[in-house]
Amino acid sequence: MRKKTQQKSPTENIETKTMDIGTSECLQYNFSTLKAATNEFSEDNKLGKGGFGAVYKGKLGDGQEIAVKRLARDSGQGDIEFKNEVLLVAKLQHRNLVRLLGFSIEGSERLLIYEFLPNASLDQFIFDPTKHTILDWEKRYKIIKGIAKGLLYLHEDSRLRIIHRDLKTSNILLDVEMNPKIADFGMARLFNPEETQGDTNRIVGTYGYMAPEYAMHGQFSVKSDVFSFGVLVLEMVTGQKNQYIRNGESMEHLLSYAWKSWQNGTVSNIIDLTLTTGSDSLCDITRIIHIALLCVQENSGDRPTMAEVVHMLNSFSLTLAIPSEPAFFIRNTIHPQVSLLIFSENIVSISEIAPR
Ligand SMILES: Nc1ncnc2c1ncn2[C@@H]1O[C@H](COP(=O)(O)OP(=O)(O)OP(=O)(O)O)[C@@H](O)[C@H]1O
Ligand SMILES: [Mg+2]
Repeated sequence: MRKKTQQKSPTENIETKTMDIGTSECLQYNFSTLKAATNEFSEDNKLGKGGFGAVYKGKLGDGQEIAVKRLARDSGQGDIEFKNEVLLVAKLQHRNLVRLLGFSIEGSERLLIYEFLPNASLDQFIFDPTKHTILDWEKRYKIIKGIAKGLLYLHEDSRLRIIHRDLKTSNILLDVEMNPKIADFGMARLFNPEETQGDTNRIVGTYGYMAPEYAMHGQFSVKSDVFSFGVLVLEMVTGQKNQYIRNGESMEHLLSYAWKSWQNGTVSNIIDLTLTTGSDSLCDITRIIHIALLCVQENSGDRPTMAEVVHMLNSFSLTLAIPSEPAFFIRNTIHPQVSLLIFSENIVSISEIAPR
């Protein structure tokens, strides 16, 4: 049973209460309730596992479906700090964000409770040999615009300024109508609360999506999220993961392949075959690739803000700047902790990155 709030749903509590330490009880769940809801965290209920622990599907006594993230790592915070951070993150509400419904603390166990999204994550569609056909261009475009709006809210419109730091296809969940909802925002805040500055020794993101300045120097900013957004868009348009892909006889990195194709006017070669390539949609897709390439530029200052991205996505008459060549990474398969950073000219440095 949920503490003290048995007759109210967490959703009601979030909407009607002003949250401070005193109201943390409203969002606090008993560990035993979550254990029962997830069938004792059974393998059958497991939805997946990420850098912070596993996620389980659960059903509360009142029938409400939830997703429970059982944190595997010590957040390095006391209970009060953890609760306060959860309460702050739970205040962030937007139609393109996954809703954080509550938390649980018991002994060393820490769990986060989210709304359950029935269609799982974007990666399970765009990289799936059969399911990728479900997402036609119209749907993908709607998803791209939704993600951009959610990210803009995190960056500029919410009371907290949140830099996501781990934006990727598995962190974009889809509701029944295929509306995108960004997941796992605020995780960096829950785990590294002392990092208010834009520098960290702890890299939180995922290889392939990280902006060069973040992966190399731990410098994160709204512009490192913009970089990840650009990678995500290129993956959605091409249906390819951000890694080396086959280009005829040779292998090429998605970012450089996209950049070259855009420059040569041959983007139709890289588009996911599922997307209709009628002249109208080809024109739209080319423009979206252009916007994505602006986002993955090597120099963070050259990348647009999310407000500018949203504006570009909505007004087709707007003239777009010419993108410079993107930076991109190679994950070293022999020494996975070492990544090579390739800049426009050549390999310029090798970075030791703590693996997640
Ligand atoms: N609220 C939710 N509703 C439905 N499915 C979810 C929900 N949250 C997560 N999932 C599923 O569980 C999987 C694992 O999520 P998790 O966040 O642990 O890993 P990840 O997103 O791959 O990595 P990261 O730890 O970097 O976020 C996701 O890929 C997603 O498919
Ligand atoms: Mg996740």
